[in-house]
Amino acid sequence: MKILIATDKPFAPIAVNGIRKVVEDAGMELFLLEKYTEKKQLLEAVADVDAMIIRSDIIDNEVFDAAKKLKIVVRAGAGYDNVDLAAATAHNVIVMNTPGQNSNAVAELVFGMLVYGVRNLFNGTSGTELKGKKLGILAYGNVGRNVARIAKGFGMDVYAYDAFTPVQAIEKDGVKAVASTEELFKMTQVVSLHIPATPETKGSINFNLMNSMPKGAVVINTARKEVMDEAGLVQMFEERPDFKYLSDIKPGNDLELNEKYPDRYFATPKKMGAQTAEANINAGIAAAEQIVDYLKNGNTTFQVNK
Ligand code: 3PG
Repeated sequence: MKILIATDKPFAPIAVNGIRKVVEDAGMELFLLEKYTEKKQLLEAVADVDAMIIRSDIIDNEVFDAAKKLKIVVRAGAGYDNVDLAAATAHNVIVMNTPGQNSNAVAELVFGMLVYGVRNLFNGTSGTELKGKKLGILAYGNVGRNVARIAKGFGMDVYAYDAFTPVQAIEKDGVKAVASTEELFKMTQVVSLHIPATPETKGSINFNLMNSMPKGAVVINTARKEVMDEAGLVQMFEERPDFKYLSDIKPGNDLELNEKYPDRYFATPKKMGAQTAEANINAGIAAAEQIVDYLKNGNTTFQVNK
Protein backbone atom coordinates (compact mmCIF):
# COMPACT_ATOMS: atom_id res chain seq x y z
CA MET A 1 0.00 0.00 0.00
CA LYS A 2 1.24 3.50 -0.88
CA ILE A 3 0.58 6.45 1.40
CA LEU A 4 1.23 10.01 0.21
CA ILE A 5 1.75 13.07 2.39
CA ALA A 6 0.70 15.99 0.16
CA THR A 7 1.28 19.23 2.01
CA ASP A 8 1.68 22.63 0.43
CA LYS A 9 2.65 23.79 3.95
CA PRO A 10 4.97 21.01 5.21
CA PHE A 11 4.85 19.33 8.62
CA ALA A 12 7.88 19.67 10.91
CA PRO A 13 10.49 17.00 9.94
CA ILE A 14 10.01 15.28 13.32
CA ALA A 15 6.32 14.78 12.49
CA VAL A 16 7.17 13.33 9.05
CA ASN A 17 9.56 10.88 10.77
CA GLY A 18 6.78 9.83 13.15
CA ILE A 19 4.34 9.34 10.28
CA ARG A 20 6.95 7.32 8.37
CA LYS A 21 7.41 5.00 11.36
CA VAL A 22 3.65 4.33 11.67
CA VAL A 23 3.36 3.68 7.92
CA GLU A 24 6.48 1.49 7.60
CA ASP A 25 5.73 -0.48 10.79
CA ALA A 26 2.43 -1.38 9.12
CA GLY A 27 4.33 -2.67 6.08
CA MET A 28 3.29 0.24 3.88
CA GLU A 29 5.33 2.78 1.84
CA LEU A 30 5.45 6.53 2.40
CA PHE A 31 5.79 9.18 -0.34
CA LEU A 32 6.16 12.91 0.14
CA LEU A 33 4.99 15.88 -1.93
CA GLU A 34 5.74 19.12 -0.09
CA LYS A 35 5.58 22.80 -1.07
CA TYR A 36 4.21 21.98 -4.50
CA THR A 37 3.62 25.00 -6.67
CA GLU A 38 1.31 23.62 -9.36
CA LYS A 39 -1.75 21.40 -9.23
CA LYS A 40 -0.16 19.27 -11.95
CA GLN A 41 2.39 18.03 -9.40
CA LEU A 42 -0.40 16.94 -7.07
CA LEU A 43 -2.28 15.21 -9.89
CA GLU A 44 0.87 13.27 -10.82
CA ALA A 45 1.70 12.36 -7.22
CA VAL A 46 -1.73 10.88 -6.48
CA ALA A 47 -1.81 8.64 -9.56
CA ASP A 48 -1.14 5.33 -7.84
CA VAL A 49 -1.48 5.97 -4.09
CA ASP A 50 -3.95 4.16 -1.83
CA ALA A 51 -4.16 6.85 0.83
CA MET A 52 -3.31 10.51 1.37
CA ILE A 53 -2.54 12.75 4.32
CA ILE A 54 -3.26 16.41 3.60
CA ARG A 55 -3.67 19.74 5.42
CA SER A 56 -5.45 22.71 3.82
CA ASP A 57 -4.62 21.32 0.38
CA ILE A 58 -7.49 21.52 -2.10
CA ILE A 59 -8.76 18.05 -2.94
CA ASP A 60 -11.40 18.40 -5.64
CA ASN A 61 -13.05 16.22 -8.27
CA GLU A 62 -10.02 16.50 -10.59
CA VAL A 63 -7.75 15.11 -7.87
CA PHE A 64 -10.14 12.21 -7.20
CA ASP A 65 -10.32 11.51 -10.96
CA ALA A 66 -6.51 11.38 -11.10
CA ALA A 67 -6.20 9.14 -8.02
CA LYS A 68 -7.43 5.87 -9.47
CA LYS A 69 -6.46 3.68 -6.49
CA LEU A 70 -7.30 6.15 -3.72
CA LYS A 71 -9.32 4.70 -0.83
CA ILE A 72 -8.92 7.23 1.96
CA VAL A 73 -7.91 10.88 2.50
CA VAL A 74 -7.17 12.10 5.99
CA ARG A 75 -7.10 15.83 6.60
CA ALA A 76 -4.51 16.15 9.41
CA GLY A 77 -6.44 18.84 11.23
CA ALA A 78 -9.96 19.95 12.02
CA GLY A 79 -11.57 21.83 9.11
CA TYR A 80 -12.27 19.85 5.93
CA ASP A 81 -13.88 22.55 3.78
CA ASN A 82 -10.92 22.09 1.39
CA VAL A 83 -12.11 18.59 0.42
CA ASP A 84 -14.99 18.04 -2.00
CA LEU A 85 -16.88 15.47 0.08
CA ALA A 86 -19.48 14.73 -2.60
CA ALA A 87 -16.73 14.02 -5.14
CA ALA A 88 -14.98 11.79 -2.58
CA THR A 89 -18.15 9.79 -1.99
CA ALA A 90 -18.80 9.54 -5.74
CA HIS A 91 -15.30 8.06 -6.11
CA ASN A 92 -15.81 5.66 -3.15
CA VAL A 93 -13.15 7.45 -1.11
CA ILE A 94 -13.42 7.79 2.66
CA VAL A 95 -12.55 11.23 4.09
CA MET A 96 -11.55 11.73 7.73
CA ASN A 97 -10.22 14.55 9.89
CA THR A 98 -8.24 14.36 13.15
CA PRO A 99 -10.36 16.46 15.52
CA GLY A 100 -8.66 18.05 18.53
CA GLN A 101 -5.11 17.16 17.56
CA ASN A 102 -3.95 20.68 16.72
CA SER A 103 -6.37 22.68 18.86
CA ASN A 104 -3.99 23.74 21.62
CA ALA A 105 -1.60 25.19 19.02
CA VAL A 106 -4.39 27.29 17.51
CA ALA A 107 -5.59 28.44 20.93
CA GLU A 108 -2.09 29.52 21.97
CA LEU A 109 -1.75 31.55 18.76
CA VAL A 110 -5.01 33.34 19.60
CA PHE A 111 -3.33 34.79 22.68
CA GLY A 112 -0.04 35.52 20.93
CA MET A 113 -1.97 37.56 18.39
CA LEU A 114 -4.29 39.12 20.96
CA VAL A 115 -1.45 40.47 23.10
CA TYR A 116 0.23 41.79 19.95
CA GLY A 117 -3.04 43.42 18.88
CA VAL A 118 -4.03 45.08 22.15
CA ARG A 119 -0.45 46.39 22.54
CA ASN A 120 -0.90 48.20 19.22
CA LEU A 121 1.28 45.80 17.24
CA PHE A 122 4.24 46.75 19.46
CA ASN A 123 4.44 50.18 17.84
CA GLY A 124 5.62 51.86 21.03
CA THR A 125 2.30 53.47 21.99
CA SER A 126 0.28 52.63 25.09
CA GLY A 127 -2.09 49.71 24.60
CA THR A 128 -4.52 47.80 26.82
CA GLU A 129 -4.53 44.58 28.84
CA LEU A 130 -6.62 41.44 28.53
CA LYS A 131 -7.23 41.01 32.28
CA GLY A 132 -10.81 41.84 33.26
CA LYS A 133 -12.01 42.09 29.63
CA LYS A 134 -14.96 40.08 28.36
CA LEU A 135 -13.98 37.43 25.82
CA GLY A 136 -16.60 35.90 23.51
CA ILE A 137 -15.81 32.50 22.01
CA LEU A 138 -17.87 31.77 18.91
CA ALA A 139 -18.22 27.97 18.73
CA TYR A 140 -17.17 25.92 21.71
CA GLY A 141 -15.39 23.01 20.07
CA ASN A 142 -11.87 21.72 20.68
CA VAL A 143 -10.19 25.07 19.92
CA GLY A 144 -12.85 27.10 21.76
CA ARG A 145 -12.38 25.02 24.91
CA ASN A 146 -8.61 25.55 24.84
CA VAL A 147 -9.10 29.29 24.29
CA ALA A 148 -11.37 29.38 27.37
CA ARG A 149 -8.78 27.55 29.48
CA ILE A 150 -5.99 29.97 28.55
CA ALA A 151 -8.26 33.05 28.83
CA LYS A 152 -8.88 32.25 32.47
CA GLY A 153 -5.13 32.41 33.12
CA PHE A 154 -5.20 35.94 31.68
CA GLY A 155 -8.02 36.82 34.11
CA MET A 156 -10.57 37.34 31.32
CA ASP A 157 -14.31 37.00 31.83
CA VAL A 158 -15.23 34.23 29.38
CA TYR A 159 -18.48 33.83 27.38
CA ALA A 160 -19.31 31.41 24.59
CA TYR A 161 -22.01 30.62 22.08
CA ASP A 162 -22.30 27.29 20.34
CA ALA A 163 -25.38 26.16 18.44
CA PHE A 164 -24.57 22.48 18.99
CA THR A 165 -22.99 22.25 22.47
CA PRO A 166 -25.35 21.98 25.46
CA VAL A 167 -25.26 24.92 27.89
CA GLN A 168 -24.21 22.62 30.76
CA ALA A 169 -21.16 21.42 28.83
CA ILE A 170 -20.04 25.05 28.42
CA GLU A 171 -20.86 26.18 31.96
CA LYS A 172 -19.07 23.27 33.64
CA ASP A 173 -15.85 24.88 32.37
CA GLY A 174 -16.67 28.12 34.20
CA VAL A 175 -17.68 29.78 30.92
CA LYS A 176 -20.94 31.72 30.60
CA ALA A 177 -23.11 30.34 27.80
CA VAL A 178 -25.10 32.96 25.86
CA ALA A 179 -28.17 32.35 23.71
CA SER A 180 -27.03 33.60 20.30
CA THR A 181 -24.18 34.93 18.18
CA GLU A 182 -25.82 38.38 18.35
CA GLU A 183 -25.80 38.35 22.15
CA LEU A 184 -22.16 37.24 22.22
CA PHE A 185 -21.02 40.16 20.05
CA LYS A 186 -23.17 42.66 21.97
CA MET A 187 -21.69 41.83 25.31
CA THR A 188 -18.02 41.07 24.68
CA GLN A 189 -15.15 43.34 23.76
CA VAL A 190 -12.99 40.60 22.29
CA VAL A 191 -14.53 37.95 20.03
CA SER A 192 -12.56 34.88 18.95
CA LEU A 193 -13.97 33.02 15.93
CA HIS A 194 -13.93 29.21 15.88
CA ILE A 195 -16.73 28.39 13.45
CA PRO A 196 -16.12 26.22 10.39
CA ALA A 197 -16.68 27.53 6.85
CA THR A 198 -20.08 26.17 5.80
CA PRO A 199 -22.82 27.59 3.54
CA GLU A 200 -24.49 28.92 6.73
CA THR A 201 -21.41 30.59 8.23
CA LYS A 202 -19.86 32.10 5.06
CA GLY A 203 -19.96 35.91 5.30
CA SER A 204 -21.84 35.64 8.59
CA ILE A 205 -19.52 37.94 10.56
CA ASN A 206 -20.95 41.16 9.20
CA PHE A 207 -20.92 44.88 9.96
CA ASN A 208 -24.06 44.89 12.14
CA LEU A 209 -22.74 42.09 14.29
CA MET A 210 -19.31 43.67 14.77
CA ASN A 211 -20.71 47.15 15.22
CA SER A 212 -22.80 45.94 18.17
CA MET A 213 -19.59 45.24 20.13
CA PRO A 214 -18.63 47.54 23.00
CA LYS A 215 -15.89 50.17 22.62
CA GLY A 216 -12.40 48.78 22.16
CA ALA A 217 -13.72 45.95 20.00
CA VAL A 218 -11.28 43.29 18.81
CA VAL A 219 -12.19 40.40 16.50
CA ILE A 220 -9.68 37.59 16.12
CA ASN A 221 -10.08 35.03 13.37
CA THR A 222 -8.08 31.80 13.55
CA ALA A 223 -10.90 29.88 11.83
CA ARG A 224 -11.56 30.54 8.14
CA LYS A 225 -11.39 33.69 6.00
CA GLU A 226 -14.73 32.84 4.35
CA VAL A 227 -16.73 33.46 7.55
CA MET A 228 -15.89 37.17 7.40
CA ASP A 229 -17.97 39.59 5.34
CA GLU A 230 -15.05 41.56 3.87
CA ALA A 231 -17.09 44.61 2.83
CA GLY A 232 -18.50 44.73 6.37
CA LEU A 233 -14.98 44.53 7.73
CA VAL A 234 -13.92 47.59 5.72
CA GLN A 235 -17.01 49.49 6.90
CA MET A 236 -16.20 48.53 10.48
CA PHE A 237 -12.65 49.90 10.18
CA GLU A 238 -14.04 53.10 8.63
CA GLU A 239 -16.78 53.72 11.18
CA ARG A 240 -15.17 52.41 14.36
CA PRO A 241 -11.75 53.90 15.01
CA ASP A 242 -11.55 51.74 18.14
CA PHE A 243 -11.87 48.46 16.15
CA LYS A 244 -9.06 45.97 15.58
CA TYR A 245 -9.02 42.84 13.44
CA LEU A 246 -6.41 40.12 13.85
CA SER A 247 -6.46 37.20 11.49
CA ASP A 248 -4.53 33.99 10.88
CA ILE A 249 -6.06 33.83 7.41
CA LYS A 250 -5.52 36.82 5.14
CA PRO A 251 -8.75 38.35 3.88
CA GLY A 252 -9.04 39.05 0.14
CA ASN A 253 -8.56 42.77 0.88
CA ASP A 254 -5.40 42.29 2.98
CA LEU A 255 -3.34 44.84 1.02
CA GLU A 256 -5.98 47.57 1.37
CA LEU A 257 -6.42 46.95 5.11
CA ASN A 258 -2.68 46.86 5.70
CA GLU A 259 -2.21 50.13 3.91
CA LYS A 260 -5.10 51.98 5.54
CA TYR A 261 -5.08 50.58 9.08
CA PRO A 262 -1.53 49.43 9.83
CA ASP A 263 -1.96 49.86 13.62
CA ARG A 264 -5.34 48.12 13.89
CA TYR A 265 -5.05 45.26 11.43
CA PHE A 266 -2.76 42.27 11.40
CA ALA A 267 -2.80 39.06 9.38
CA THR A 268 -0.19 36.32 9.43
CA PRO A 269 1.57 35.87 6.05
CA LYS A 270 0.67 32.14 6.09
CA LYS A 271 -1.84 30.33 8.32
CA MET A 272 0.21 29.60 11.44
CA GLY A 273 -2.34 28.31 13.97
CA ALA A 274 -1.50 24.63 13.63
CA GLN A 275 2.12 25.19 12.63
CA THR A 276 3.92 23.79 15.70
CA ALA A 277 5.99 20.62 16.02
CA GLU A 278 3.52 19.32 18.62
CA ALA A 279 0.42 19.93 16.49
CA ASN A 280 2.15 18.46 13.41
CA ILE A 281 3.15 15.35 15.38
CA ASN A 282 -0.30 14.95 16.97
CA ALA A 283 -2.32 15.50 13.80
CA GLY A 284 0.13 13.83 11.39
CA ILE A 285 0.57 10.66 13.43
CA ALA A 286 -3.17 10.46 14.17
CA ALA A 287 -3.79 10.70 10.41
CA ALA A 288 -1.28 7.91 9.69
CA GLU A 289 -2.76 5.68 12.41
CA GLN A 290 -6.30 6.28 11.13
CA ILE A 291 -5.20 5.31 7.60
CA VAL A 292 -3.53 2.12 8.79
CA ASP A 293 -6.52 1.24 10.97
CA TYR A 294 -8.90 1.80 8.07
CA LEU A 295 -6.85 -0.10 5.49
CA LYS A 296 -6.17 -3.02 7.86
CA ASN A 297 -9.33 -3.16 10.00
CA GLY A 298 -11.92 -1.05 8.20
CA ASN A 299 -12.24 1.39 11.14
CA THR A 300 -14.20 4.45 9.93
CA THR A 301 -14.53 6.28 13.28
CA PHE A 302 -13.48 9.71 12.04
CA GLN A 303 -15.17 9.57 8.64
CA VAL A 304 -16.78 12.90 7.67
CA ASN A 305 -18.38 12.00 4.31
CA LYS A 306 -21.14 9.76 5.60
C1 3PG B 1 -7.42 23.11 10.85
O1 3PG B 1 -8.53 23.18 10.32
O2 3PG B 1 -7.02 22.07 11.40
C2 3PG B 1 -6.55 24.34 10.93
O3 3PG B 1 -7.10 25.39 10.25
C3 3PG B 1 -5.10 24.08 10.51
O4 3PG B 1 -4.90 24.09 9.12
P1 3PG B 1 -3.46 23.76 8.47
O5 3PG B 1 -3.21 22.31 8.68
O6 3PG B 1 -3.59 24.13 7.03
O7 3PG B 1 -2.43 24.59 9.18
